[in-house]
Amino acid sequence: MKILIVGSGGREHAIAMSVAKSAKAEKIYCAPGNAGIGTIAECVPIGAMEFEKLADFAEGHAIDLTIVGMDDPLVGGIVDVFEERGLRVFGPRKNAAILEGSKAFSKDLMKKYNIPTAAYENFTDPDAALAYLETAKMPIVLKADGLALGKGVLICNTLEEAKAGVQQIMQDKKFGSAGDEMVIEEFMTGREVSVLSFVDGRTVKIMSSAQDHKRAQDGDQGLNTGGMGTFSPSPFYTEEVNDFCQKYIFQPTVDAMAAEGRTFKGVIFFGLMITEDGPKVLEYNARFGDPEAQVVLPRMKNDIIDVMEACIDGTLDQINLEFEDNAAVCVVLASDGYPVSYEKGKEIRGLSNFDDRDGYYCFHAGTKLGEDGKFLTNGGRVLGVTAKGATLKEARANAYAATEWIDFDNKYMRHDIGRAIDEA
Ligand code: AMP
Ligand code: GLY
Repeated sequence: MKILIVGSGGREHAIAMSVAKSAKAEKIYCAPGNAGIGTIAECVPIGAMEFEKLADFAEGHAIDLTIVGMDDPLVGGIVDVFEERGLRVFGPRKNAAILEGSKAFSKDLMKKYNIPTAAYENFTDPDAALAYLETAKMPIVLKADGLALGKGVLICNTLEEAKAGVQQIMQDKKFGSAGDEMVIEEFMTGREVSVLSFVDGRTVKIMSSAQDHKRAQDGDQGLNTGGMGTFSPSPFYTEEVNDFCQKYIFQPTVDAMAAEGRTFKGVIFFGLMITEDGPKVLEYNARFGDPEAQVVLPRMKNDIIDVMEACIDGTLDQINLEFEDNAAVCVVLASDGYPVSYEKGKEIRGLSNFDDRDGYYCFHAGTKLGEDGKFLTNGGRVLGVTAKGATLKEARANAYAATEWIDFDNKYMRHDIGRAIDEA
């Protein structure tokens, strides 16, 4: 089969690596891809939001399956464009990707179908939001309704901060039109767990659990980022938690979407908080997590193409999703200064240390090829160094050892990815 992957980050590199393992994949393209993806796929210079050009490419190159990794094109309706042209594509249609594209939509869905989540109110009028805050309990959480590169969530400790947050989101439009509507919700405490799942419209099968570290600095300090590292599985995702989530969260969400006429096919990412009152949904995403995919996919035993085709064809009930009985840790190597400002174009040395080394992966997030064939940094998050191990502790030791194999100017990483493991 000829496969086209849409996206350019570490997640898409992890997807490409899984696809490359399939005996069915004869040729892999990635649009636009990056330098690392270019080592296993042919990168095509078409942007992820150029739907018609991507569809032209898929038609012209007789692509058998297109896999969309990123949120923006999914929310923007890329799947609808491909389907209208009779092209086979993995991912939710626009009317289902709204599960991620609008937080107000997802909160209302959860309320209507009794899916556990934080108490909330939606607002389109800043004055009403400000008035609501006067009587609300602090801390409180403000969320821009739309996509905001994972940055549209503000946790406010005081009324003053919260009022300033409403100003930023709804009046100053810090996140653009994503802030035309806003969710204000109860602050929850507990352990966060990410559970990714494959969905065929009816059946939902979960992948191994994971946990992300979103803050830039050690000890969960500093600004929110796209994610500084992950581990899988999460020791906090117990059998008991899983039983609860299967019954009250996963299947009910898929059924709710179908009942609303928004049949979901693709990946649902359940962002969960395990609170004292049980698991609750923090957020939904309509795609693999980044960098969750970098620890989950290397542990998946199935042929990813079989699973994705089953999602498209509605036959996921016939797939036995299996994961290795081990662990993986991913440490993101970033450019110092991320997520605010940072330099690019630095030479990356040591990548060949990963060649032919079982259980070690160097996923590229922001890299490009220089004119002389050297690999250069090209983003805030540069690489995701992933290692497996028999246990989480072993995987963590392996991953941190492997971060030493790579060198570039202004290399920055967190040193406590997976520290929560020690408390489990
Ligand atoms: P989200 O993009 O909705 O996942 O939010 C980003 C991060 O903000 C989450 O990973 C949580 O750490 C935090 N967060 C979001 N909503 C809440 C909440 N209701 N209570 C506590 N923390 C939250
Ligand atoms: N790692 C969180 C996300 O992909 O949204």
